[in-house]
Amino acid sequence: MLDVTSTWVEPSSTATALLLLGRGSDPATERGVECPGELPAPSDPDLVARATAAKAALGEKVFVLGHHYQRDEVIQFADVTGDSFKLAREAAARPDAEYIVFCGVHFMAESADILTSDAQKVILPDLAAGCSMADMAVLSQVETAWETLAELGVAAGTVPVTYMNSSADIKGFVGRNGGVVCTSSNAERALTWAFERGERVLFLPDQHLGRNTAVLEMGFDLADCVLYDPHKPGGGLTPEQLRDARMILWRGHCSVHGRFTLDSVDEVRERVPGVNVLVHPECRHEVVTAADQVGSTEYIIKTIEAAPAGSAWAIGTELNLVRRLANANPDKQIMFLDRAVCYCSTMNRIDLPHLVWALEELVAGRVPNQITVDPATAEHARTALDQMLALP
Ligand code: 13P
Ligand code: SF4
Repeated sequence: MLDVTSTWVEPSSTATALLLLGRGSDPATERGVECPGELPAPSDPDLVARATAAKAALGEKVFVLGHHYQRDEVIQFADVTGDSFKLAREAAARPDAEYIVFCGVHFMAESADILTSDAQKVILPDLAAGCSMADMAVLSQVETAWETLAELGVAAGTVPVTYMNSSADIKGFVGRNGGVVCTSSNAERALTWAFERGERVLFLPDQHLGRNTAVLEMGFDLADCVLYDPHKPGGGLTPEQLRDARMILWRGHCSVHGRFTLDSVDEVRERVPGVNVLVHPECRHEVVTAADQVGSTEYIIKTIEAAPAGSAWAIGTELNLVRRLANANPDKQIMFLDRAVCYCSTMNRIDLPHLVWALEELVAGRVPNQITVDPATAEHARTALDQMLALP
């Protein structure tokens, strides 16, 4: 059996520093959404017993969803695990669960609220669990971009497509303007649908998923893609660039997947001969181009499960998932693509104390941290989400 621990790297102080940085710098924290009420101490030896008891007391009334990037201490209480798309569908498929406790980030809980009935309440155990990528596209900025396209006379031929990792406001904008939501597993199908309806796409908010899908999966040229910077007038682009573009990529990225570099790929190939490099499409274009395989979180899991014993894999995605895959596949050599490992700091805000607190509040008859999307936004966002569900 291969020694997995020899290639496994625990979080470095850099990662810890990033974690701490994330706690203080997130827009959600700045909006003053610290967890209300008494949080149990992380050192409380009864946390597992308390979560178990609270969940048992709630019975069928509660359904706990856990994103693949969540900590093990939280995942052990998830009724189902999955990527953001699968979890939203799972929430929608549980009409009898009065409370959906979403162990993930804010945009995922919003999508669950949109897809569930009015009688169901979606709870995010820590309201400060946002997503830095989703925060990079703000509705007012996107409306300004759309006005610029309208002034140039090209908005009518442009179809907006947003990644699931965006706020309900952005999904609502996309729904109002004839577009579609996509995930990392159906981005190619969503873009094909969009190009049947327009000559160009405004892709929000992840430039990398947009570029990687258009260029590597659909045969577009890098020159067909332009990068729209919401902090510059006209996106920092000339009218000709905007008119000629096939893909207008929003200048957004994931702070976790954006850390992987071409050097990470070169370094691991040198260190581990024969290694397979498997990355998420939120990684930079040069990283995805140099990798052996690219795919969504679910694709990464399936690929590792199906891999032959003895094979070696360097995985470019979030640390909690890679570590769980390493533990579940001791006959394979699983390593993180970059030694300067990094958790998603916002995903990690959901820890066992927050989960225990949320469940015990529900047992006490109080609904903590409910996520609600206003009805008008929800209606348009649902149009864009339903369009995604209807993709051929
Ligand atoms: P998926 O959940 O669609 O795999 O996306 C990855 C991610 O970054 C989630 O925040
Ligand atoms: Fe957002 Fe990236 Fe974290 Fe996913 S991994 S929640 S995209 S910051």
